[in-house]
Amino acid sequence: MYADRPARKAWTVPMLADARREGRKLVMLTAYDASFARALDDNGVDLILVGDSLGMVVQGHQSTLPVSVDDIVYHTACAARGVSTALLVADLPFQADASPERALDAAVRCLQAGAGMVKLEGAGFKLDVIRFLVEREIPVCAHLGLTPQSVLRLGGYKVQGRDERAAATLRDDAVAVAEAGASLLVLECVPSPLAAAITAASSIPTIGIGAGAQCDGQVLVLHDLLGINSGHRRPKFVKDFLADGGSIAAAVAAFAEAVRDGSFPDAEHSYG
Ligand code: KIV
Repeated sequence: MYADRPARKAWTVPMLADARREGRKLVMLTAYDASFARALDDNGVDLILVGDSLGMVVQGHQSTLPVSVDDIVYHTACAARGVSTALLVADLPFQADASPERALDAAVRCLQAGAGMVKLEGAGFKLDVIRFLVEREIPVCAHLGLTPQSVLRLGGYKVQGRDERAAATLRDDAVAVAEAGASLLVLECVPSPLAAAITAASSIPTIGIGAGAQCDGQVLVLHDLLGINSGHRRPKFVKDFLADGGSIAAAVAAFAEAVRDGSFPDAEHSYG
């Protein structure tokens, strides 16, 4: 069906740093099955995340906390069958990274299911987890700012780093996860000027979600991009690309283009 497409080079972890160095924006979306992964891969998406957001948009839970390692491994294996060039990233779900050994077990299962990298939330003791995984040849994407697995402590899904102390902690954590060996950093719900400062100081590429246009790339949850009502409040940073697109392929391609030309996210979809 796609035989007319020119062959593209498959993404590797070192290519992420090349893209940042060359000023090429990284385009990331979530997918949880083979057909959507293929639609993303065919329409210009560089990284596909099997996020634990699947707990909310696929399984119908109120948070990501009920998601298990088995769930992530199952959906990673499904998505992997649809991927040909994108880098597949699997989320370590709640408490799968509670110790380095647990994280290693979960990460190995994710890689064996087809992922090329695992993502985990937070800094603090997670720095040891990142180091432990990276030393064992497992590429890691860090995730700071609003970390949805911290929803009980945070008391909801709120913008992070608003006051100077919280901003300083975020800046320090961003440096620390890179020093621990992470290859990529997701910044979620962070005021745009802070995300821009973190990105400028960072030695690894940043991917924003509700973190302004100055990050090195952008990610959205697929259901949000397609305007699907998953029964949760729609955050300000979400844009329905299907509304103007007419087809799923066009919506994904429009997102990829808007990320690459810097027009998404605009001020309407960012926090000042
Ligand atoms: O689980 C997920 O989909 C995520 C993205 C929102 C970054 O972590």
